[in-house]
Amino acid sequence: MTSATRAPEALANPQLNPYLPVPMRIERTQVETDDNMLKSFDLSFVHSEDAANFRFRPGQFCEISVFGKGEAPFGIASSPTEPGPLKFTANKIGVLTTALHSMHEGEILGLRGPLGNGYPLEKFEGHNVVIIGGGFAFTTLRSLTQYLLHPDHRSRFRDIIIIYGARRPGLLLYTDDLAAWERRQDVQVHLTIDQAVPGWTKLVGFVPDVVAKVAPTAEDTYAVICGPPVMIRFTMPKLTGLGFPRERIYSSLERRMKCGIAKCGRCNIGPYYVCKDGPVFSYAQLEGLPEEY
Ligand SMILES: Cc1cc2nc3c(=O)[nH]c(=O)nc-3n(C[C@H](O)[C@H](O)[C@H](O)COP(=O)(O)OP(=O)(O)OC[C@H]3O[C@@H](n4cnc5c(N)ncnc54)[C@H](O)[C@@H]3O)c2cc1C
Ligand code: FES
Repeated sequence: MTSATRAPEALANPQLNPYLPVPMRIERTQVETDDNMLKSFDLSFVHSEDAANFRFRPGQFCEISVFGKGEAPFGIASSPTEPGPLKFTANKIGVLTTALHSMHEGEILGLRGPLGNGYPLEKFEGHNVVIIGGGFAFTTLRSLTQYLLHPDHRSRFRDIIIIYGARRPGLLLYTDDLAAWERRQDVQVHLTIDQAVPGWTKLVGFVPDVVAKVAPTAEDTYAVICGPPVMIRFTMPKLTGLGFPRERIYSSLERRMKCGIAKCGRCNIGPYYVCKDGPVFSYAQLEGLPEEY
């Protein structure tokens, strides 16, 4: 599609029609895990005016469409501080993600966004931040970490602690980034796997137990936690046991979504549209809601 074929109002401001995807080119793909189920896609805007209109914060997501297959939400894994393509990481789970995994560099996808609220960076300023992730839910936590560690931002935040676990080493995402963070003096990185394997010299144990062992101070500290529901369920009591109040614990929810813009009613939990009021919520906000998340 050339820019001459597109609606003039969409060129001026894509938000005028929030259902209209903009075309994105796959610049690079990278298999992230040894089971080949997680693949990252670096996408660049086909039209420079779409790139100029796109401003996002860590924790936001986009609806990605594959022609003839459908559309689904994906957290933005790159940080606004990283110039160049946007990164997304997809788990091959169904129709769209299987089609996505078979696509190659140079092919074109559709993208709507950025959508949702993102992490409350302003609240984190001046505080310690503990980032807790499990498995492939580390996507927007990568974005958040890169943002916090950027030279323009690092001094605005106090201690940064990352606790990230996977079943085995080959299932950890973004291993180059993890290695770069481990080399830094201004961030603590605790990587763990469920069971010991030969050659693994880091932590062994489930994420909730590692949280208890690392025991980050709850004083002046925010926690951000993303992972499988079972990990979150067992990590929450560890955090509250350490003294974290529920209003300083944030998570990003994955609900079934359709429109992504609070129109279709697909994603509601209680009074919230997860697509617009979230996907990032504090546990204080979620308290008392149906336990669907
Ligand atoms: C805000 C947000 C951010 C997301 N970010 C990412 C991301 O960064 N990477 C990523 O891989 N995925 C992400 N997801 C999940 C992704 O959008 C879904 O897995 C999507 O349905 C995949 O599309 P599909 O057509 O391949 O799978 P489908 O064919 O739609 O579904 C395949 C199977 O998965 C089940 N399923 C799909 N989605 C869900 C769900 N949300 N809850 C429970 N069961 C489900 C279906 O019932 C079916 O059994 C995100 C979801 C949300 C809401
Ligand atoms: S996905 Fe349509 S209202 Fe949230």
